[in-house]
Amino acid sequence: MNEQLAKITEEALGKISGAENLDALNEVRVEYLGKKGHITAVMKEMKNVAPEDRPAFGQMVNDARSKVEEALEAAKEALSQAAIRERLAAEVIDVTLPARKASIGHGHPCQIALDEVERIFIGMGYEVVEGPEIEWQEYNFTKLNIPEGHPARDEQDTFYITDEILLRSQTSPVQARVMEQGKLPIRMIAPGRVFRSDSIDATHSPSFNQIEGLVVDKHITMTDLKGTLDEFAKELFGPETKTRFRPHHFPFTEPSAEVDVSCFKCGGKGCRFCKGEGWIEILGCGMVHPHVLDMCGIDSREYTGFAFGVGLERIALLKYEIDDMRLLYENDQRFLNQF
Ligand code: DAH
Repeated sequence: MNEQLAKITEEALGKISGAENLDALNEVRVEYLGKKGHITAVMKEMKNVAPEDRPAFGQMVNDARSKVEEALEAAKEALSQAAIRERLAAEVIDVTLPARKASIGHGHPCQIALDEVERIFIGMGYEVVEGPEIEWQEYNFTKLNIPEGHPARDEQDTFYITDEILLRSQTSPVQARVMEQGKLPIRMIAPGRVFRSDSIDATHSPSFNQIEGLVVDKHITMTDLKGTLDEFAKELFGPETKTRFRPHHFPFTEPSAEVDVSCFKCGGKGCRFCKGEGWIEILGCGMVHPHVLDMCGIDSREYTGFAFGVGLERIALLKYEIDDMRLLYENDQRFLNQF
């Protein structure tokens, strides 16, 4: 018995010193000292030992057990220390390395362009207001003289939440909201996000930004509209910029026009930038339709007004000579940091 126990103990000590990590060490512990372990098995032999020999037998097994336990404990300590040393070595901090720079964000080209547009209009005495992105169809269409069944509803096909509620397809509903408040005169711009069910390409996106403009007062004429937008174009694109008003149709203005600016690249001679035209379209505008004024509670016999709508991305693309709108939505810092 004694010999067998000595052999088991020897074997256990050998495995302990060979264990490479704490898991392996634990396996050895289970193999020898666990419920079904080899040393435990020897202890179970007690019942077959003559009663007078039992104390000596017990002492012998306990000695073997203690020896193995001590060895396990010592090995565990050594392996834990080694693990700590290894981790310290792996996570060493080189305090001589140069510090990593905190990268500071950069204004988005659309935001820079919007700041510029706001600066220009605030300088002319306009107020900046906001309206909701989730809008009643009534404000997005009906109150702007686009009744149900009007083809303009299809041109601005948007995302409907219910029959009555949609994601606004234009910032023009803010006009109706401001007019309904009844505080006159009105001189405001309303920048914001709009939505259309368009697929993404270099010039389209299902979500983009517009800036609406509205002036309502007594004696406002087309001359005021032309002078204001001409001044806006000169401030935005440079003092040599000329404007051209082309007749157009918008349901909520009459008369209506689209405005082109002379190409600020070639000065109007025609180049690649303006596709040989010499002119670049920048916005839609017109005199507020009397029907719209009346629907929004303003007496059209007493008051007149003008309105305009600019695409913010379009301004940013032109101003910074970016040829693909998608770049504006990727938020790649390498791109954004250039402006
Ligand atoms: N809301 C128009 C659009 O999305 C743009 C526009 C044109 C706004 C003429 C106006 C305007 O206020 O007078 O196409």
